[in-house]
Amino acid sequence: MWHFYCPNIIYGEDALDFIEKVKGEKCFIVTDKVIEELGYLKLLTDKLDKIGKKYKVFNDIMPDPHEETVVKGKEHCISYAPDLIIALGGGSVMDTAKGIWGLYEYPEYTIDNIDPFSDQLYDFANKAKMIAIPTTSGTGSEVTWAAIISQFQNNVWRKGSFAHMSLVPTYAIVDPVFPKGMPPKLTVNTAFDALAHAIEGYISSWRNEFSNALGLKAIELIFKYLPIAYKDGNNIEARDLLHQAATMAGLSFSNSQVNLGHAMGHSCGAIFSIHHGQSVGLFLKYISQYCLNNPSEPNESIEIYSTIAKKLGWAKWDDEPKKAAYIVVEKIKELQEKVDFPSNLRGLGISREDFDKNLDKLITLCYQDPSSVMAPRTPNKAEFEKLFKYAYEGKDIDF
Ligand SMILES: [Fe+2]
Repeated sequence: MWHFYCPNIIYGEDALDFIEKVKGEKCFIVTDKVIEELGYLKLLTDKLDKIGKKYKVFNDIMPDPHEETVVKGKEHCISYAPDLIIALGGGSVMDTAKGIWGLYEYPEYTIDNIDPFSDQLYDFANKAKMIAIPTTSGTGSEVTWAAIISQFQNNVWRKGSFAHMSLVPTYAIVDPVFPKGMPPKLTVNTAFDALAHAIEGYISSWRNEFSNALGLKAIELIFKYLPIAYKDGNNIEARDLLHQAATMAGLSFSNSQVNLGHAMGHSCGAIFSIHHGQSVGLFLKYISQYCLNNPSEPNESIEIYSTIAKKLGWAKWDDEPKKAAYIVVEKIKELQEKVDFPSNLRGLGISREDFDKNLDKLITLCYQDPSSVMAPRTPNKAEFEKLFKYAYEGKDIDF
């Protein structure tokens, strides 16, 4: 038995209008100051004013949210007592809102009680429903059951995934009016996060027919529409389909599991403060090569990647699987070049000295990340070290 978790998804132009049909009179809006400055909050509050819903805004969210922000939001939320929580923003905002929602429903809990195996948490959303409105096309948090929140442990801010199926938002409103204004670099970084979700979800040990279908479509749409949106941010068709692709990728990995690229990306992001999408997108080609080079027989990665290449028309159906599989790596490289995405860690401005000094910590963080073991091949310590070193120099993986 398997279970596919997803919210009600409203997508396309004018999707925001659906908010009128959602029950609930008092809205607790979770957002950040940038969203407010960009005028996106006003788009939402104008709509709420027009339909007569009350609201209170909590806009204290910073990137890579800390547990303290969730607790502060919970206090504000409890004192306002909403029946609707609306997250308007990127992954950090939506993840914080999920954490606030969890602690609003169960005020006696801490985020450590948000546990996928909790039976109690299935009794949920009795006080409020949640609407997630993504303003970037990447994280997929609008449809996932996890909140990524940082806790300070062993002298480093470590990202933890606090998950339960009840944290899947009630509604995801995926309206291209919001990502339309993203600058090119953010467009690319967030799209590479989505691409990593789709590809890692596709190769995950927990992949399934539903996650594969959505992951494959997301890969196709990102490859087609990212270069267009990168060149012309106002191309609404590209924005709309890239936005939908990010949501599909979110559904895909949320119902399978991200793995090696995210383990390495999280680790690197925590130590060198790199944008999440840039960090995980950078490792994508390296972890793909590493999985494809697996000396064990049979090497299931060859079959998986060759299926991607053949189904997307990058290889012919009668091509030899190994040849077809490595085409995916070449396609990732091509896309990175097209949209000026950095291909190695050195290119991100990390000095050799800094890299060497932190190498052990990078590897330790990977080991602490449970998703490390969900790829078709799991590195040992020496292999993690080599993977990081190769990614620093930009060398193809030859082991
Ligand atoms: Fe991600």
